[in-house]
Amino acid sequence: MAKAAQRIPVTLLEGDGIGPEIVAASCRVLDALGAPFDWEPQPAGLSAVDSHGDPLPQATLDSIRRNGLALKGPLTTPVGKGIRSINVRLREEFQLYANLRPARTIVEGGRFADIDLVLVRENLEGFYVGYEHYIPVGGDPKAVAESAGINTREGCRRIAEWTFDYAARHGRKKVTIVHKANILKLLTGLFLETAMEVGKRYEGQIAIEERIVDNCAMQLVMNPWQFDVLLTTNLFGDILSDQIAGLIGGLGMAPGGNIGKDAAIFEAVHGSAPDIAGKGLANPSALLLAAAMMLEHVDEHERAERLRTALHTTINTDGIRTGDLGGKASTEQFADGLIARL
Ligand code: NAI
Ligand code: MG
Repeated sequence: MAKAAQRIPVTLLEGDGIGPEIVAASCRVLDALGAPFDWEPQPAGLSAVDSHGDPLPQATLDSIRRNGLALKGPLTTPVGKGIRSINVRLREEFQLYANLRPARTIVEGGRFADIDLVLVRENLEGFYVGYEHYIPVGGDPKAVAESAGINTREGCRRIAEWTFDYAARHGRKKVTIVHKANILKLLTGLFLETAMEVGKRYEGQIAIEERIVDNCAMQLVMNPWQFDVLLTTNLFGDILSDQIAGLIGGLGMAPGGNIGKDAAIFEAVHGSAPDIAGKGLANPSALLLAAAMMLEHVDEHERAERLRTALHTTINTDGIRTGDLGGKASTEQFADGLIARL
């Protein structure tokens, strides 16, 4: 008889906005799937400011450090002022340098069929280091805004090595390095140069090419099938990952993993969607696909595949879709449909 599967403790962050709705629905589906996760709910985000006076309480950090694994809902970051992004802080705290964002077609009948792209975004450097300040001139305290981007050779090498290793392990054929080295000659030039050097080690196994980011954005819409794995810097990766989500039905279908040496945090690419929060309308698929990535991360490949298949069947065969996919199902009805298929 098969040995009872080992239980795996996972820190669970509900998040803000639609977070609690999609997290609750996802946990229900994952339990029905028999996923071996023991959830450890911890406070984070705006709700944690109210309850703990801190958007990222120490107990939450300790839990993630202990478990090395977290599933998180989206966290709201005020625009232009206020607290530093909690997402950025989490990535820095646990040195989650690789942001893996795959885009695979699940929803049939969209603008683009058979998309199978993987975007890897450097997650700690570039313009997201947050070295920003205003320079006052005359009576204007905000006369000049200055921001510095930082890329290190070590950081570039680390993400390039991670990406080519990922590509090799997953039978990927090509890595495209996306940059803006014609303008940001040093900042993204170092990234390009280092990634090219790393790529040479894979000659004969993985093809390597480079694209300037604006051209890449256009070609992703004209002919996305030419790409396989995209490797890029933090800001470009943030933008392009929302764009490739648009190729597969939108943000409701786009998962991501933030991966480091000692910890990994899985989440949807989308944010807290304040426009639909609390209405039971959100699509939980992106978070569920992130959970499928987490299942793969712990070598639960069969369950990950079963979850993806159930998503495919529920959406395409049963026609149960949330509003973002043109349907009428609520978050909970969609989860019920999935559970019926599991
Ligand atoms: P957003 O991703 O929250 O929403 C963009 C649009 O997509 C909205 O119209 C929203 O209704 C829709 N949408 C997003 N997720 C959906 C889902 N699961 N089902 C159906 N529709 C969905 O982006 P926005 O509005 O720019 O950001 C809102 C907040 O989220 C901001 O505070 C931002 O900083 C934060 N954010 C957090 C992220 C994270 O925690 N990883 C990532 C991106 C944004
Ligand atoms: Mg983003």
